[in-house]
Amino acid sequence: MLQWHSMYETGVQDIDIQHKRLFEMINGFDKSISDKSAEGMIDEFLTFLGEYIKTHFAFEEQCMAELICPVAEKNANAHQKFLVTYMNYYNRFKDEGYSEQLARELHKTAEAWLVKHICGIDVHLKFCVKKGAAA
Ligand SMILES: [Fe+2]
Repeated sequence: MLQWHSMYETGVQDIDIQHKRLFEMINGFDKSISDKSAEGMIDEFLTFLGEYIKTHFAFEEQCMAELICPVAEKNANAHQKFLVTYMNYYNRFKDEGYSEQLARELHKTAEAWLVKHICGIDVHLKFCVKKGAAA
């Protein structure tokens, strides 16, 4: 289960709020797989997750561009790659139908990606915000 920690903070409050919302969504998905309610709402979940990450990615990319963050391009590329991963899962659920195994695979992938991505790329925003504030 994902748990928020200060090491995930980016220094941009709106982005932290969005990341927390993503944590909740992913944890909620995990719970729904376990209590067997995920199958009935997989379409809604995938649609909502897809819309949410697209909006969040666009917002974060704009922030990085405005703050002239050195990892802005790396961030945008990583987002593009994850959108491809997401679409692959979306298509697999459409083609293969729901299975607990596929749902667990998606959950594990999303959870691992998000933590690695926030810690590896998004937290760089912290230094850009400080630099901008000092200027
Ligand atoms: Fe990002």
